[in-house]
Amino acid sequence: MTTKELRQKYLEFFEKKGHSIISSASLIPENDPTVLFTTAGMHPLVPYLMGEKHPEGKRVTSVQKCIRTGDIDEVGDNSHLTFFEMLGNWSLGDYFKKEAIEWSYEFLTSKDYLGIDPKKLAVTVFEGDEDAPLDTEAKQAWLDLGISEDKISALPKKDNWWGPAGQTGPCGPDSEMFYWVGEGEFPPEGSNVAIDEDNWMEIWNDVFMQYNKNIDGSFTASEQKNVDTGMGVERVVALLNGYKEVYKVDTLWPIVEVVENLSGKKYEEETLSMRVIVDHLRAATMIMGDNLGLAPSNVDQGYVVRKLIRRSIRHGKKLGIDTNFCGEVASKAIEVLGSEYTELEKNKDFVLREIKKEEEQFRKTLESGIKEFEKLLKGFQMAFEKTNRKITEISGKQAFKLYDTYGFPYEMTEELAHEHDLTVDKAGFDSAFEKHQELSRKGAEQKFKGGMADTGEMSVKYHTTTHLLHVALKRVLGDHVAQKGSNITADRLRFDFTHGEKMTPEERTEVETLVNAAIARDYPISFTEMTVEEAKAQGAIGLFGDKYGEKVKVYTVGDPAGMAEGNPESDTFSKEICGGPHVESTGVLGKFRIKKEESSSAGIRRVKGVLEDL
Ligand code: SER
Repeated sequence: MTTKELRQKYLEFFEKKGHSIISSASLIPENDPTVLFTTAGMHPLVPYLMGEKHPEGKRVTSVQKCIRTGDIDEVGDNSHLTFFEMLGNWSLGDYFKKEAIEWSYEFLTSKDYLGIDPKKLAVTVFEGDEDAPLDTEAKQAWLDLGISEDKISALPKKDNWWGPAGQTGPCGPDSEMFYWVGEGEFPPEGSNVAIDEDNWMEIWNDVFMQYNKNIDGSFTASEQKNVDTGMGVERVVALLNGYKEVYKVDTLWPIVEVVENLSGKKYEEETLSMRVIVDHLRAATMIMGDNLGLAPSNVDQGYVVRKLIRRSIRHGKKLGIDTNFCGEVASKAIEVLGSEYTELEKNKDFVLREIKKEEEQFRKTLESGIKEFEKLLKGFQMAFEKTNRKITEISGKQAFKLYDTYGFPYEMTEELAHEHDLTVDKAGFDSAFEKHQELSRKGAEQKFKGGMADTGEMSVKYHTTTHLLHVALKRVLGDHVAQKGSNITADRLRFDFTHGEKMTPEERTEVETLVNAAIARDYPISFTEMTVEEAKAQGAIGLFGDKYGEKVKVYTVGDPAGMAEGNPESDTFSKEICGGPHVESTGVLGKFRIKKEESSSAGIRRVKGVLEDL
């Protein structure tokens, strides 16, 4: 089975069960400052899991682009990927455990769909603890389907509980489905996930969101009960084709072949480096190929992209590739995923240009690293001439500087040292490295702290202000202004948009005045549901993506019957495609001020703005 067939079968199956197909959201979450990337299909659905009405109804299904960087050190094994596709179906306060489990089972085993022999399946359910009881409902649903008792393992929270994605929010017990990957065609009698974990591979997760985690760590039953399921596309395609690893799948293997050709080496001999290169460059390509125009940089998502590319180049060096090669690998990634994610073709020039720039720059850094290494050698030589004592070891600190400042992998320093009859203090390097990891982990934890969708009062205010700012910028600077990114915290808004030059002081004042006049008019805010085409016809702005024919929510500031003008004299100030939430009327916002206007990247400006008390 191909990836394309699996996606089609899944969506078709759930469409038959009354679900609307929705398109993949961006890899960069809009208006959610608590996470860098979309990590699961449920992520873009958070407002609807928390009770907002979804324009497509109570049952939706999708294939979602996902990035997970938490497991980055495990990349290189059989199944972990930085970028992956996730299939999912959701009940937004509609069906619950019984239907979800029955449909999962039907899709997996029916001859019309995956046709998996039930004898190769095992499942898990939540065993219960002080927060929630044993999930007897899920267990019974599996028993009713004919899964035998010994194939059902009840496991604790660390295995069978999902969410919240942040500190607070919807979460609940889950039930996971596993496929036999051990020796022999079928599992031996009595084998299940609890006692034989390594021989079973997880393929699907049904989460039953029936709790809310509160800020004090306690759980309360949620008003709306949801189902959130997630199936890893690459893993399932691998299993269905009898592959023992994901890299043989059709959205990865052609990329492996490009690396084989570039290096003249075989995958079987250089598995680890080739896997890292393929995984990392595919992920970097997907992030940069998203519609937001994200380039390598030293902050946030841009920093992740930079790390992915640099790590690939180092592994390329290990394979003996010393000329620019990342573009060729990225082109293949665009080719294999471009038919599903049409934005990739559109953004291809940008991706290839930025990859090339990064690669050239990093090769220069590596060169200066070699110079630094030579300086070290000279120092050793001089010390020898002075004291007649030979230094034979590069210290942990020196090796770490080569790693941290010049991007040298430890093995490279060791190799170079070896060529000069030197050793490296590995323990010293490890301890410097660990200290550094510790610090950056703390930084990352800080970032991931906070609720998953921050719906605090100030955030909602900044969200509405962002809509006002967006149309005001268009009115003052011109229609070429398009949103390239938005990020909101409780203290400020940040808005990236296309515009060629710095804003003049007059333009800044004019934008502030328009926004503040719209606030002073105390426009009501409301939303209507319509198709993307209708929204466009009414002059709505926003990230349309490729959601043709799909229903979306359009938020209007002012009279929903009019055309958006960005002019506070008119009755309709703004219309924008958006999931919400927003304040009820603009009068509550306070006074808007642009604090900073700067370049974000080529052709993209960034505004930071605050709301002050009137
Ligand atoms: N959110 C769950 C997961 O990521 C199910 O989709 O596994």
